[in-house]
Amino acid sequence: MKMISFAEFGGPDVLRLVDAEEPHAGPGQVRVAVRAAGVNPVDWRIREGQFRAVRPIELPSGVGQDAAGVVDEVGEGVEGVEVGDHVFGEGSSTYAEFAVLSAWARMPEGLTFQEAAGYPSVMETALRVIREVGVRPGETLLVSGASGGVGSAVLQVARNRGITVIGTAGAANQDYLRDLGALATTYGEGWVERVRRLGRVDAALDLAGSGVLRELVELTGDPRKVVSIADFGEPGLGVRFSGAAGSMPEALAEAVALISRGKLHIPVEKAYPLAEAAAAHVDSRAGHTRGRRVLIV
Ligand SMILES: NC(=O)c1ccc[n+]([C@@H]2O[C@H](COP(=O)([O-])OP(=O)(O)OC[C@H]3O[C@@H](n4cnc5c(N)ncnc54)[C@H](OP(=O)(O)O)[C@@H]3O)[C@@H](O)[C@H]2O)c1
Repeated sequence: MKMISFAEFGGPDVLRLVDAEEPHAGPGQVRVAVRAAGVNPVDWRIREGQFRAVRPIELPSGVGQDAAGVVDEVGEGVEGVEVGDHVFGEGSSTYAEFAVLSAWARMPEGLTFQEAAGYPSVMETALRVIREVGVRPGETLLVSGASGGVGSAVLQVARNRGITVIGTAGAANQDYLRDLGALATTYGEGWVERVRRLGRVDAALDLAGSGVLRELVELTGDPRKVVSIADFGEPGLGVRFSGAAGSMPEALAEAVALISRGKLHIPVEKAYPLAEAAAAHVDSRAGHTRGRRVLIV
């Protein structure tokens, strides 16, 4: 089969479209004929070697953790899914014609493969950070970096739970945030004052890693009410970093429930052919994705 692989850590040019052995579903897994793979920032962070000290990987390595496709192998002990089912979920080396998934759910009616591939990781992250920051219905959550993949999911889950959101994003994404039910303002010079004018902040999420933790603590009045997923240099304020993944099956189930009720939609910013994975990484790394980028297989 064809897959994207890299044999050394480095820039996007280390990605190669190669011929590889097909993987097979082990116990508790399914294999899918991949139709689309989600592109997440973690994919290019791993490719660059950012996590090699804490999470070593063997090279050459495949890329990607999110996929949507058609089940073509069902592993031992797996029930409730059959060959031919359309599923989306999480696995490994998903930038490929075939991939093994360890968590999956049936795709909701009407969802395309491209759209479906964008949900798994962002939904898991969104549910986790909302839980960890401890925000309750009726309270106001400030989201720094609200228009990306994770932000888009956070805004819609929060709206569904009766949590008010103030989101920051670039000028081009202000209407997008408002369409998702948030109060919106731009980041950059003067943003703290603009947020204050929009209302009181009970809890805050840093989803962009843009060096705003001190301001988020100032706005909430309590470092325990701030969680970051993207700032690796916490300056001793007592802000929690969220990194350990939560339950993917739960995240997929909630995604299915919300999508089916028309309460969740993560737009696809751009879809690329598998062979153009490097271009997708360059664009993702530029840091202004609305929703998710995906590869079409
Ligand atoms: N720790 C974890 O478990 C975990 C899990 C998932 C993701 N992450 C990390 O979290 C980050 C976000 O992930 P993602 O998938 O949502 O990324 P993404 O889809 O690429 O979105 C990035 C967003 O950041 C916004 N942004 C750029 N500069 C900003 C600034 N100065 N202030 C505020 N927002 C700014 C952009 O908004 P505009 O386009 O409007 O400028 C864009 O929407 C990535 O760094 C990723 O690696 C961590």
